[in-house]
Amino acid sequence: VTATSVTAADRHEPGVVDLFTAALRGEVCHVVEDDGVQRRSMRLPVARWSELSAADRDLLDECTGPVLDVGCGPGRMSAALAERGLPVLGVDVVPEAVRQTRRRGACALHRDVFGPLPAEGRWQTALLADGNLGIGGDPVALLARLRHAIAADGRVVCDLAEPGTGTRLVRAHLECAGRRSGSFPWAVVDASSLPGLAATAGFRGCRTAPVHGRWIGVVTR
Ligand SMILES: C[S@@+](CC[C@H](N)C(=O)[O-])C[C@H]1O[C@@H](n2cnc3c(N)ncnc32)[C@H](O)[C@@H]1O
Repeated sequence: VTATSVTAADRHEPGVVDLFTAALRGEVCHVVEDDGVQRRSMRLPVARWSELSAADRDLLDECTGPVLDVGCGPGRMSAALAERGLPVLGVDVVPEAVRQTRRRGACALHRDVFGPLPAEGRWQTALLADGNLGIGGDPVALLARLRHAIAADGRVVCDLAEPGTGTRLVRAHLECAGRRSGSFPWAVVDASSLPGLAATAGFRGCRTAPVHGRWIGVVTR
């Protein structure tokens, strides 16, 4: 898989939304990743998306409002930011994720991050939590898209894999109760790759730091 092979159609493969919805509603689902060399299957960490960890709090500390929570999932980060008094909007391609985010008391819209977004160019932070720099399988394209979404003095805040593990571009699909979705592109980005990817996407500033067993990155224009 190369980053250039990613098309808008890939992000809307049949069954992905349905199986992700089932997972958010409590069914056991697995995400299966294939990078052309290795195939890895892991349970979708839905429980992790409902509770804040210490590392999540560090990520939240890097956010200044208004915040666009990109791929907000069931909304734990959006809800926590709202509780901190920051204006925040969650966006997600899965309607059930949007519903659950709203149930947690935060604002959310059903949107694809690569499509039109409200308040383009005015967000102070675009948050990519729980590996969401992987959305679309092309981190440079995602960062470049978010460069237009944030304000001139805005930032992209993300979490990253440990430095030295490299950037892996994978195709993934979901498996749930004997059903299998179409595949979609995803990327896993490590902390040492972020500065190069950010520079290619047109950003000038980038710092990374270890926090409570995870790495976070802050990218500025
Ligand atoms: C790994 S989960 C992270 C959930 C959430 N950020 C959290 O930490 O709890 C990825 C989320 O990104 C959403 N997503 C995937 N592609 C997207 C896109 N193109 N635009 C918006 N959201 C997307 C998925 O539906 C899913 O809810």
